[in-house]
Amino acid sequence: MLTVEQLLASSSLFSGLGQRELVALARTAQRLEYRPEEVVIQMNSLGDGLYLIASGRVKVVVPSPEGKEVILATLGPGAFFGEMSLLDDEPRSASVVAQLPSVVYRIYRQDFARLLDTSPSIARALLRELSRRLRRANEHMESLVSMDVLGRLARYLMQLAREHGEALGNGWVAVRRPTHQDIAAAIGTTRETVTRLMSELEASGLLTSEGKMTYIREETLRREGL
Ligand code: CMP
Repeated sequence: MLTVEQLLASSSLFSGLGQRELVALARTAQRLEYRPEEVVIQMNSLGDGLYLIASGRVKVVVPSPEGKEVILATLGPGAFFGEMSLLDDEPRSASVVAQLPSVVYRIYRQDFARLLDTSPSIARALLRELSRRLRRANEHMESLVSMDVLGRLARYLMQLAREHGEALGNGWVAVRRPTHQDIAAAIGTTRETVTRLMSELEASGLLTSEGKMTYIREETLRREGL
């Protein structure tokens, strides 16, 4: 397990800080632990700080008009969230809920604002990540309009493998499995459809599940053009 200082130094957001700033920031950061389905940030609440993920995985969610959960993104170790309210002074744009047991560090609003004013490296890293998230949102919107559910599932699994998986070196990527309900909420379909399509992918040898893990055959998924 990394120390807070090591976590900050290895994160894209704070890696440009000098040693003194890192030590000062580490001292002000608050460690918080969450169990799966515990709420870290409540949508529409006021922005108290920025969060950096040390371990685990969180989902960014908004309710659909029928009150169902829609997952906008899942974020893993090294990623940050909660920056939007601090930048535009609006209420929280979404809820953030633990998907796996997670440890996060909270950096208070004033401490982050001070750093942003004095460290151009943070502003640059922040803009880079916001651009990346906008690209992702564009891709997602495009896939909702132009792809069928199997295509969206394949793309979701590819992204899951790439961003949250561990390559085993034999063409398979291991990833802690999200529930079928969470997969459905991320690709805009029902849990029953996800269960059926996952079985079909398993039957074709493109993925397999065991215990808490799913193993994804990344190359095959790509080659099949799914
Ligand atoms: P904030 O609005 O303060 O609180 C909710 C957080 O969820 C938000 O900041 C972002 O950090 C995060 N978030 C909202 N939308 C997305 C998205 N499309 N992709 C990744 N993260 C998001």
